[in-house]
Amino acid sequence: MPRIEIAPSLLAADFARLAEEVAAVEAAGADWLHLDVMDGRFVPNISFGPLVLRALRPHTRLPFDVHLMIEPVDPFLAEFAAAGADRILIHPESGPHLHRSLQAIRALGKQAGVVLNPATPVEAVAWVLDLVDTVLMMTVNPGFGGQAFLSLQLPKIAAVRAMIAASGRPIRLAVDGGIAPGTAGPAAAAGADTFIAGSAVFGTRDYAHAIAGLRAEATDPARAGLPPAGGKPD
Ligand code: DX5
Ligand code: ZN
Repeated sequence: MPRIEIAPSLLAADFARLAEEVAAVEAAGADWLHLDVMDGRFVPNISFGPLVLRALRPHTRLPFDVHLMIEPVDPFLAEFAAAGADRILIHPESGPHLHRSLQAIRALGKQAGVVLNPATPVEAVAWVLDLVDTVLMMTVNPGFGGQAFLSLQLPKIAAVRAMIAASGRPIRLAVDGGIAPGTAGPAAAAGADTFIAGSAVFGTRDYAHAIAGLRAEATDPARAGLPPAGGKPD
């Protein structure tokens, strides 16, 4: 299995102290900073845009994992790349030609990811895997932090893990939404290797403890006393 990576989602941070919050999760052992960009159209919420990325970029060495929940997405890819994105994640529903959008992200010199909503079939990513560095599985409906993990997505995570294995490419498999103690383990057992967590990091007092806890549970779900993915409780 690839190395476990933890990406705190800035959406749950204190927006009046963003630079401090980013420095704090970097010091606490985060691997990536996840930035949720929402337009009030693709999802029913508005967050922030490239100006915030640009403002934060000098304040951290963490790579920026930029989750674009906007439509249309194509006109803004270059702007997010220039603002400091290292990986740009897009939804198949946010433009007419997913393959072309991924080519555009690659042409900008950035890693590219595809995000699958809970109801989006895994086949949506099957024929573009050669352009993809990350598949991100939404384990809530996109738009808000603090929602409950949808455990019906666990078999879907396993299906994408099998698809990635068959591709032979080193594609990361991320989960986003409701990732916390008790859900990181089952997601890891199903095949996830990258864990995006907003409330479960920024909603706690000790970010280092929260990140270490998620990493430990994801690294060894059995030792955390969790049931295997898809397993039924006795
Ligand atoms: C939701 C976002 C998530 C969100 C997760 O649309 O994609 O990244 O911040 O928040 P939690 O971890 O609180 O569910
Ligand atoms: Zn996200």
